[in-house]
Formats: sequence, C-alpha cells, structure tokens
Amino acid sequence: MTTTAKKLFIKTYGCQMNVYDSKRMADVLAPAGYALTDTPEDAHMVILNTCHIREKAAEKVYSELGRLKPLKDHMAQKGERMIIGVAGCVAQAEGREMVRRAPVVDLVFGPQTYHRLPDMVSRLTAGGDVARMVDTDFPVEEKFDFLPAESSDDGPSRFLTIQEGCDKFCTYCVVPYTRGAEYSRPAAAVIAEAERMAASGAREITLLGQNVNAYHGAGPDGTVWSLGRLIRRLAEIEGIARLRYTTSHPKDVDDELIAAHAEVPQLVPFLHLPVQAGADRVLKEMNRHHTADDYRRIAGKLKAARPGLELSSDFIVGFPGETDAEFEETLKLAEEMEFISAFSFKFSPRPGTPAATAGDQVPEEVKSARLTALQAQLDRRQKAFNQSLVGREMTILVERQGRHEGQLVGRSPWMQPVHFEGARFETAYGRLATVRITSAFANSLHAELLAVEGDVEHHQGCAAPGGPSSEKVEVRV
Ligand code: 5AD
Ligand code: SF4
Repeated sequence: MTTTAKKLFIKTYGCQMNVYDSKRMADVLAPAGYALTDTPEDAHMVILNTCHIREKAAEKVYSELGRLKPLKDHMAQKGERMIIGVAGCVAQAEGREMVRRAPVVDLVFGPQTYHRLPDMVSRLTAGGDVARMVDTDFPVEEKFDFLPAESSDDGPSRFLTIQEGCDKFCTYCVVPYTRGAEYSRPAAAVIAEAERMAASGAREITLLGQNVNAYHGAGPDGTVWSLGRLIRRLAEIEGIARLRYTTSHPKDVDDELIAAHAEVPQLVPFLHLPVQAGADRVLKEMNRHHTADDYRRIAGKLKAARPGLELSSDFIVGFPGETDAEFEETLKLAEEMEFISAFSFKFSPRPGTPAATAGDQVPEEVKSARLTALQAQLDRRQKAFNQSLVGREMTILVERQGRHEGQLVGRSPWMQPVHFEGARFETAYGRLATVRITSAFANSLHAELLAVEGDVEHHQGCAAPGGPSSEKVEVRV
C-alpha cells in the first residue's frame, strides 16, 4: 500500500447525494495515500463529481476540463502526473464520448462505481501506463458494502444515503437514466452506519435518496421496511437528536411516514416535498402521478400530524405546453401552501427525456418572466415566515463559529442558520441550544441564547455535565 501523501481535489456539483458520494470517494482513496486539498493546483488527482439535472451540465464540465489542462501540463513538466476523473451523472450520461472529446480526462466513472476507484487508479498508474478508463456500470448494491470509518471531523450534522435511483420517470428528468432503478439499502446497513455516525459525534442525520420516501429496504426481521419504520428505529440511537430526509415524492408519503411525523420527536417539523406545478394537466404531462388536490391533501395530513410542520418545494416553470392560466395555478398553489422556502427552475430540456422533444416548447423569455414572478412570491413568503419567528423560542443545533468574534451559528429545525453569542464554541459545538429569535433576515436569523444542552443538566445538579448524548433541553419547535 502506498503511503506517500498525494493531493486529492474533488469539485462537487449538484445535490446532497453528490456531497455524500464525494466524501465517500475521499474515504476510499485515503488508504491509497490521497489526502484532500482545497485547490486543483498541484493535485495528483482531480475529480469532478458532476450533476446532469439541469441546463448545460455537460458543457460546464467540458469548460472546467479546459481550465484543468494547463494545471495538468504544469504537473507533467515537474515530472508528476495529475489524474483527472469525471464522476457522477454527467459521466454516466456521456460515458465514452467524454474520453473521446476531452483527451485530458483519464477516468470516467458513474455514480455507482466509485468504490472501485482505488482499483481503477492502480490499474491506471501501473507501470506508467497511460490507459484511460470508463466505468459506468450500475452495481449499486456493491458500492455501499464499503463502509468507511466515520470521524468526528465530519461535524454534528451528517448525510446518510439510504436509497438511490428512481423508477418514477417524470418526463422532464434524467435521474432514472443516470442513477438507474430504485435501490434501497438494507435497514441493518443503514442502522450500522447511523450508529457509527452517532458514536463519532453526529447529532443530526439527513437521510438521502433521489426518492427517499420510496425506501423499501430489507428489514433485519425479514420484512420490508418503509421509511417511517426506519426512522422510528434510527430515533432510538443514543445521541441522535434530529432526523431529516430528502428528497421526497408526494405519491410515496404513506400512513407510516405520516405517523412517524406525529410520534417521533427527533423527526424535524420540516419537509422538502416537491410539487413542481399547480395545474393538473401539466402534472399529468410531467407524469407526476398526483394532482394539485392530492398534494393539498397530503400537506394537510402532515401538518395535522405534526403541528408546526412546514414545507418547502421545487417548481419547474415553462414546462412544454404550459399556458399563462396554468402558470397562474402554480402561483395559486404556492401561495396557498405557504412554502417557507423553495427552489424554482426554468424547464430545461434534458437529452433523452420525453419532454425534451415535445413540440410545444415555451419561449425562453416567457419562462424567464414566469420564474421571476414565482420567485418574487416565494421570497415574500420566506421572509414573512422568518419574520414570524421573531420572539419565538426554539432549539438549534450548534454547528460552527460565525464570522464575528464570539459569534456561534446553529441551525433551526427549518434549516435557517441562527447566529447568537454568549457561549464558548468548545462547549456548545455539537449540542442543542435553546434560543429566542431577536431578528430575521431573508436567509438567516439572529437570536439570544437561553441555554445550552448540558448546562441545563449541570444547573439542575445532575452528576455529570451533559455530553453529546444528553437530551435535557426540550425540543421545542
Ligand atoms: N428542468 C428544470 N428543472 C428540473 N428539475 C429536474 N429536472 C429538470 C428539468 N429538466 C428540478 C425539479 C427537481 C429538482 C431537483 O430539479 O424541480 O425537483
Ligand atoms: Fe426525477 Fe421525478 Fe424521479 Fe424526482 S421523482 S428523481 S423528478 S423522475
């Protein structure tokens, strides 16, 4: 095994699933002597972990590769080799075409094969061989068999991929083609990974999947577990104060999941539940398998199950054939649902998807105008929600130091960063803190500190100061 330190630079595009995958790539390459670095200059290996979901993804990757070329040449002049790999969904979609079009690339590998990276790299470097490789299989089960060590450096909030791929085939989306069919990891493997995360200081886990609530993993008891069931089990892990999951599909919100929202206090009262559009005809053309009313009903059930539960969403404007009146229905639904945050996009024709070749494409300027109108409305609501929190007490998870001296930053259950002062970072880091919100901004909140978990225990005269597993601060949301 090589132990000389080699520099590894990974650039991650797109969703949190890619963030998780990039971390795993760094983990699998560590035993081969690669250590992460912040810049591509002088790196022995550069990986672009790409996303294909929207506009010009492949073009962006090709121009990034153009920028890497002089850096690679510079390394070569010094007698060293920079291996350039392209990973993720663009790699999956482009495959061999990428090796042909970009001679600078050494390795092209899809989202399901990075566990084979050390092998690819050693084959690539064997005897100075300059062979180039493409590995875009779909052996999804295998990649999760590799279970790297968790480290406390990973912070109190972690991502855990439990499901990959998608069988829904929304007509605008490349995911079913780039990430493949739905696959759920066995519950025992997920529980083991979550336990290792908790043991190394994780307090919050976000369960990830392209279609996370379609989760149907093999349970340790021989039955198939739903996401609701899995969440209940994960909530039993000592130290885990918060659970989240993303991204969900309305059709897969089942009764077990709704019950988990009602009964599992660790499950935050916040859910990203994309609706995409407000008009039933458009939803049907998108192959979403739900109507606007279905969405209203599901949102109603979730909010009834967990008072204070808020939703965020994704929208696509200018889907082929979308009329002004249909777009108005999107505005209406968005207003009515009072989303506290949202991502909205202009429809982008993705090669190979049915909607890309539909005859009635919406002109670019119409898409832009609709996006501006929708975003203005969504922003107003986001600000109003943040403003409504002023004066409220809430529990936040302390995650980092702020930019100003003595300032700490935690996250609210609804994901806003909350800035506050009055505790030492070393003591508060990774703990829950109770705060009162004093002012609100578009994307963040300021607060005064009321108590840090552990301190409360201490003040109440308990023997030991509360450690990361202490749960003395009530989760008030
Ligand atoms: N065009 C625009 N937005 C898209 N999304 C997915 N595919 C497209 C596309 N072709 C958006 C959806 C999805 C989010 C992750 O990206 O809103 O929920
Ligand atoms: Fe894409 Fe639809 Fe699957 Fe989401 S549910 S990943 S939008 S095909």
